[in-house]
Amino acid sequence: MKTTELFVSAPGRLALACSALLLAGSLPAQTGSPYLDAQQPIDARVADLLGRLSLEEKVSLVHADANFSVAGVPRLGIPQLWMDDGPMGVRAETGENFANANRSDDFATAMPATLGLAATFDTNLARAYGAVIGQEARQRGKNIMLGPSLNIQRTPLGGRSFEYMGEDPYLTSRMAVGYILGEQAQGVGSCAKHFAMNNQENQRNSINVLADERTVREIYLPAFRAAVQEAGVLSVMGAYNKFRGDYCCENDYLLNQVLKGDWGFKGLVMSDWGGVHTTEGAALHGMDMEMGSRAPYNNNRLADPFLNAIKSNQIPVSVLDDKVRRHLYVMFKLNLIHDPDVPLQTNAATSQLSTKEHQETARQIAEASIVLLKNEKDLLPLDAAKLKTIAIIGANANAKFANDGGSAQIKAPYEITPLAGISNRVGSGVKIVYAQGYALPTGRGGGFRRGGAAPAAPAPANDELASNAVEIAKSADVVIFVGGLTHGTGDSEGGDRRDLKLPGGQDELLQKLVAVNPKTVVVFNGGAAVEMGPWLAKTPALLFAWYGGLESGNALAHVLFGDVTPSGKLPCTFPKRLEDTPAAALNAYPQTSTNQAAGGGRGGRGGFGGSNDEEYKEGLLVGYRWYDTKNIEPLFPFGFGLSYTKFKYSDLTVVRGLNTEHPTVKVSFTIANTGKREGAEVAQIYVRETKPTVQRPVKELKAFAKVNLKPGEKQTVTLTLGQSAFAFYDPDKKAWISNKGDFDIEVGASSRDIQVHRGVSLAQQVAVPD
Ligand code: BGC
Repeated sequence: MKTTELFVSAPGRLALACSALLLAGSLPAQTGSPYLDAQQPIDARVADLLGRLSLEEKVSLVHADANFSVAGVPRLGIPQLWMDDGPMGVRAETGENFANANRSDDFATAMPATLGLAATFDTNLARAYGAVIGQEARQRGKNIMLGPSLNIQRTPLGGRSFEYMGEDPYLTSRMAVGYILGEQAQGVGSCAKHFAMNNQENQRNSINVLADERTVREIYLPAFRAAVQEAGVLSVMGAYNKFRGDYCCENDYLLNQVLKGDWGFKGLVMSDWGGVHTTEGAALHGMDMEMGSRAPYNNNRLADPFLNAIKSNQIPVSVLDDKVRRHLYVMFKLNLIHDPDVPLQTNAATSQLSTKEHQETARQIAEASIVLLKNEKDLLPLDAAKLKTIAIIGANANAKFANDGGSAQIKAPYEITPLAGISNRVGSGVKIVYAQGYALPTGRGGGFRRGGAAPAAPAPANDELASNAVEIAKSADVVIFVGGLTHGTGDSEGGDRRDLKLPGGQDELLQKLVAVNPKTVVVFNGGAAVEMGPWLAKTPALLFAWYGGLESGNALAHVLFGDVTPSGKLPCTFPKRLEDTPAAALNAYPQTSTNQAAGGGRGGRGGFGGSNDEEYKEGLLVGYRWYDTKNIEPLFPFGFGLSYTKFKYSDLTVVRGLNTEHPTVKVSFTIANTGKREGAEVAQIYVRETKPTVQRPVKELKAFAKVNLKPGEKQTVTLTLGQSAFAFYDPDKKAWISNKGDFDIEVGASSRDIQVHRGVSLAQQVAVPD
């Protein structure tokens, strides 16, 4: 018997020495076989290879063989398929039951939270972000990275908001496309997750989401559609929750009809970890690969039970063949199956682990993600030369976040805290005094449970910690308070926040700090909005810094001291209070009455009063669409963010294209930097239908451009809006309809700061199928 060494699936893993064993009904791998011929079209290679696989081998390709892998078929040169989380870097290796594998070679660059990436409104940075992860994934031997996470922030309570890209489908789509193109260009597949309507963590394994068709198509699906149709994402992960009665991993409508049917997705659908519940549901309703179910893996629903169902003719083999075809298609796309005798042409990606370059990219993205929310009397940027003592206060100033928060955790080679970053920046000429100020609850965080877990109860204000902080604040030239949320206080997979309050008595402490030192700069971390107390009116400067990855402290220092002009914009609305948020206002999420009665409820993880239905009562009115349509004033609106310089918008022209069947509108305007510093502005283009024939949000983001300008410089921005910028989804026609009639094109610095606008009318109604 001839033994051939066929491939190495991943560096550091065993090379597979395999026997070229002839199985009944299947052909062995041979140099010259059509599937090994890289000149053949992929579909032909897939068809040829499929014909060589035995039934058992095919089944082995549609379920896991370990935490993050699927077995290969060595005799045919099909390698094991390796995956990893995602989406903010390459997660450390796991051992039995996902425990830390305690290796020393499994670190990676911790990128800023993907919500922070969205706050940059910069698609080039999204590409750079994906490229870093793709390169490190190559180095770590991963074929598919489990990200980006594309669920819409329906409520700021959502525990995974930090991993998503905000409340707007257009912004999420643009960032997703950039990220995926950047990552897949490195020869690594992306996995768009969690498909779909996984917008809360509480009861995520049991809720049944009910949302109308327009809401689904217009709010929750566009980013996935863009990932498939514009970025060519190679895999999609089904979500844990149910949608309209069926688990998303066994959902014919989502997987077969929309994803594979309407959108023509050719890649593979994998389950979320443990998200498959039945053999028949998964097999027949579009699930291609069962992941995360418990060992022994041959008992998984898409393993022996599936094989038996095929053998007993309950499920046709064509169902299995389609899944295997998709798996092989992805493998050929990633160049994982190749002729062992022909030297591999790689795309020569520089696959290196957390290089200086990668860390630099992480820092640049973190800098661009920071949002300046308030800056009275130009307190910022600070001038280190004029300061003698800085009081740095707050638990987060001395905290690290990367290796926490659930499956998005990253074991970084280092992480610069704000305290370290500011100290490095100011050098020895300035005295830094630090006080923690408040205590944070310990509890949920790195040790999240897959099924959901409650965050620890908030710690009460701690008088001693607070008075120490007030003492040092009194005599400092400036106070830099770094607080907000942590993964342990609710920004984490597995559970949602109970409310939008700042944990640990920070409101009380801030009230005291601003009273003793009016030069108090407040910096918050977090994955979504927090409510802010009366101290806000007395604070001259406020910044939101998300979770900034391994370079977060340096990035923050660069913004505070003016090495970088802030340019981030909010990718999600900051409401004044939880009751203003759409789902809460409609008592849809959290259901406040149930919370109180059961001491839990959806907001507090209690029972559901008999029903698991989670009705998206707010429909289309998610995020700013709600606040604007209902005239509710937010604390800080979507798209808002200040700069150290000033911008002026002018000269808007709006020109309709001549082809009325393919409507286009060319929008052109000028932005000038009228301030004294170089800086970047994110110009946002919103479209409003003046007299809609169906309910429409008052305005919707349809384009944006980030423009960097020197003082006194100006630039003309020209963008073309296509039919989709004007369209709504018509469920009866199964098409996107742009009406004949008037629209207003609104250009501004945020959703509530429209600087210039102009009308345009479309000459005829146009319908485009989804
Ligand atoms: C998460 C996924 C993740 C998977 C593997 C699940 O609990 O929802 O996002 O990719 O675990 O860790």
